[in-house]
Formats: sequence, C-alpha cells, structure tokens
Amino acid sequence: MVSDKGSKIVYVGMSADLVHPGHLNVIKRAAELGEVTVGLLTDEAVASYKRLPYMNFEQRRMVIESIKGVSRVVPQTTLDYVPNLRALKPDYVVHGDDWRSGVQRSVRERVIEVLAEWDGELVEVEYTKGISSTQLNKALKEIGTTPDIRLRKLRRLLNAKKIVRLLEVHNGLTGLIVEDTHVEVNGVKKEFDGMWASSLTDSTAKGKPDIEAVDLTSRMHTLNDVLEVTTKPIVFDGDTGGKPEHFVFTVKTLERMGISAVIIEDKVGLKRNSLFGNSVPQTQDSIEAFAHKISAGKKAQLTNDFMIIARIESLVLGSGVPDALNRAKAYIDAGADGIMIHSASKNPSEVIKFCREYRALDLKVPLVAVPTSYNQITEDELADAGVNMVIYANHLLRSAFPAMVQTAQLILKHGRSSDVDGDLMPVDDIIRLIPGGF
Ligand code: SPV
Ligand code: MG
Repeated sequence: MVSDKGSKIVYVGMSADLVHPGHLNVIKRAAELGEVTVGLLTDEAVASYKRLPYMNFEQRRMVIESIKGVSRVVPQTTLDYVPNLRALKPDYVVHGDDWRSGVQRSVRERVIEVLAEWDGELVEVEYTKGISSTQLNKALKEIGTTPDIRLRKLRRLLNAKKIVRLLEVHNGLTGLIVEDTHVEVNGVKKEFDGMWASSLTDSTAKGKPDIEAVDLTSRMHTLNDVLEVTTKPIVFDGDTGGKPEHFVFTVKTLERMGISAVIIEDKVGLKRNSLFGNSVPQTQDSIEAFAHKISAGKKAQLTNDFMIIARIESLVLGSGVPDALNRAKAYIDAGADGIMIHSASKNPSEVIKFCREYRALDLKVPLVAVPTSYNQITEDELADAGVNMVIYANHLLRSAFPAMVQTAQLILKHGRSSDVDGDLMPVDDIIRLIPGGF
C-alpha cells in the first residue's frame, strides 16, 4: 500500500473525455494525498453506461498523462472499480461526490466495500458547479462534427458496445429525433447509436416505390439534409449497389460525405422490398458476381474505416441457412466488413440458427440484423445470438403516416381543424422545436 517513493497510493477512476475544472479539482485533491494513478475507463467501459467518448482511449490517455499531479495512467476496463482496486490496493480512492446517486451509486458502494478489506478510504470532492460534461457535450453537438470523425465512429461503437442500435431516418427532422431522443432505464441513459438511411422510407417519403427508382443523387440529397443537423454515424442502404462499375463511385461519394458504411443486398434485376418475401418475383445474385461487386467496392474506398456490409437474402427467398452461410463465407473472403442477415418471417428461429452457426465459424466480422417482421425479439436476445448491430428500419415513417392520415380525415370530416388539436403538437412548440428559428 506504499508506493516506491514511500508516499500513499491514490486511485482516481475517470473517463476524462471532455476534461474540465471538475476533473482537475479531483486530481488536485488526489495529489495532495499521495501518488496518483488514474484508472482511465476504456471506450467499452464508458459505453456500458453512457455515450461513447469523443476521444478514443489513446487520445484521452495522452491528455490525462500530461496533467500535473498524475503519476501514471492504467486502463479501467469496466465501470466496476474492483478489479483495478484489488490489483493496486490503494490507500485512497478520490471521486466527485456526484456519484452518490444515479447509475454509479452501486459502483460507489462496491468501492467502499472493497477498500475496507485493506483499510483504504474513499475521499469525495464536492461536485464542481457551473461546468459539466453534459453542458460541454451539448455545446459540442451544436458545433457539429467532421466527415472523418463521424465515419470512424461506427467501428469504434462496434468495438465498444455489446450491440449497436440504429434507427431509420428519411429527412433532417427524423435525423434530429435519432440524434436527440433518450430515455433513462435503471439509471442508465439509453439512446440510438446511429442512423439507417433506409431505401424503403426514403422512397416512401418521396411517394415512390422501393425499387431503386429514387436515384442516387436524390438519396444523397436526403443524406445531406440529415448530415447537416446531426453528428451520429450513418449506415446507408445501398439496395443492390447497382453495377460494380457504378458501385465504386457510390462508395467514394459516401466516404467523402462521412457515411460510415454501405449495406448492399445480393439481388439482381428489378429489386423489390425484402419484406414482400417470396410473394413477388425476386432473384438472388450469384455468389461470384456479388463477391466481385464487394471486392470492387473495397478496392475503391480511400479510408481504412469505411465498411461495406454484405446483405444476404437467402432466408427471405427461401434458400435456407446452409446457402446463407456459404454466401457469408464467400462475401467475407471477397472483403466484406460485415454481414447482414435478413428475414421476412415473423419467427426469429431461422435468423437465430444462422447467427449461431455463423458465430461457430469464429469469424470476427460483425453481424447485422433487422428485426422488422420478427419484432418480438429483444436486443439482448439478438446480442446473445451473436448480433452486433440491430437496425429498426422503418419505424419513424410508419408511426408518422397513420397519424397524418388521421389528421387529414378528421379535418375533412368536421370541416375545421379544432377537432384534431388534442392529438397535435401545440403551435408554440413546433415554432420553437428547431433552435435558431427566432
Ligand atoms: C430498408 O429499410 O429499406 C431495408 C430493410 O432495406 S427492408 O425494408 O426490411 O428490406
Ligand atoms: Mg432497402
């Protein structure tokens, strides 16, 4: 419990993303007590209870190592301090007193318990008022992001989170909903990690069928609207990807915009939405041709981080799990950075069977699922089966449409609008919804 220099050992756990005077006050107090080791929470540890830090672990380590009073920085790989505390047996743990409530409450209790094993002590520093990472986070969101930072974020999320959660967007407003909506469940803040630029909802919002009739330029306009008002990563629904010779341009364009990934599906001819299943004619591409398209795309990309995810339609078209697995292996050999398995069945059993057999191959390549039809399944169940990313592909549009039709009908029926008012957002709220409008 005594360091080399004979002084006391002091441990400070922090995520230290947006470093502010509150952090410095904690470190200053810790340094008064002895030699300070900062347990820097890894991306994974931070993502287990709040949003992913802006800076990655190495960047945060560089900052903290340079702060006066810090002797060394070690990774803390869980929100729980106990493993590091047992290894270090510090005389003191220093923390801000704000963790007495909220998600960190039980973490604090465990710290006190474990310190008692060697008579260590918890020292709490009064919460520094007037500045917080929540305020800084809000200010950063207002500033925005760069294409580069946004693009890379998806891979960071995949590395840090048990399952990455995306929701559909089809314009700036839905982008803002995905960006800002959050709830608290058992003290943990839950939000969406990113956005799915769906072909179904983009086409439908434009009054067109989901058959690749909305051209790429038009899809880019929608993306631009979303990019302008958000900071979270975007996965683009690239439909079939078109001809390989055209797909290479799509990849370069998306990358330049800061889109993190494109998902292309292994179908040819007139593409119809997968949720039709086999009720309309749809043709799957050959393994060779689709693998060629993937590798052409991979050769075209300029960054290391952009992802090309191969979407397998075998279950939708009734060719079964063995065919889907065969294709997954071939597409990964061709360079695919992820596999999306789709199904139009209400029952998840075939998807789950695929996921388990896929994971048994011990491939590290991320797996994506879109539980639109088999919507009873939970994110935890998907994650347990080996899914790394879940996409809620059309839900904002599907919730808005019936509400809009009902409003139109009620106005027609009553010959005035007051009868729908109870279901509507007040005028005062809508004019203030978007900041900067007054
Ligand atoms: C989309 O959202 O456009 C998709 C998913 O491709 S699905 O509609 O289920 O095919
Ligand atoms: Mg689509």
